[in-house]
Amino acid sequence: MEFFIDTASIEEIRAAQSWGILDGVTTNPTHVAKEGREHKDLIQEICSICPGPVSVEPTVADAQGMIREGEEFATWAPNVVVKVPITPEGVRALRALRAKGIRCNVTLVFSLAQALIAAKAGGTYVSPFVGRLDDAGADGMELVRDICDAYRHYGFETKVLAASLRHPVHVIQSALVGCHVATMPFRVMEQLFNHPMTDIGLEKFLADARRLKSELEIRRAARG
Ligand code: G3P
Repeated sequence: MEFFIDTASIEEIRAAQSWGILDGVTTNPTHVAKEGREHKDLIQEICSICPGPVSVEPTVADAQGMIREGEEFATWAPNVVVKVPITPEGVRALRALRAKGIRCNVTLVFSLAQALIAAKAGGTYVSPFVGRLDDAGADGMELVRDICDAYRHYGFETKVLAASLRHPVHVIQSALVGCHVATMPFRVMEQLFNHPMTDIGLEKFLADARRLKSELEIRRAARG
């Protein structure tokens, strides 16, 4: 399963990239607004740090506007993927962008019906929003599982990208249902490392290494 980071923070992307486990980045207008920088400069810097796919979301909702912005985004860097919402306008934009060889990530997906449209229209990625479904009292992972199952029946090539993930269990469950990509906040990626037994074990190994080092130093000093 690929790991994408869901952020537009250069600091977070650099840190995740330094771990060697970062496969791509997803941004959205909320993330971009937090950075307070020119969209193009920010995306180009992100694309230069992470060579994997970087999803960039248009700032308008009509097909013509999304096509115009999407075509421009695609000139910013070769690894740009254009996000389109799962609306009739979004799918029109997807068809036009795809015909020009521009990859699209179909976003704001909350049902299997929407995910089927995303695949039939030729989305490179489909993004079910797990955490937001959970927030609404539904089971977000159930949707991810259903999409993976339905896509397998028909051999759709669209990759399932679990989005709006809030904690490590979402990532683990995404892997267990055979999802292709999990995009997560930096905090969740950091949490994936954590296990108390790792901390306890490391502390003990380091303490033993320190003790041996000081014993050897004492012996060396005693020998003169
Ligand atoms: O970028 C789309 C999605 O991952 C947003 O997540 O946490 O705002 O629901 P969230």
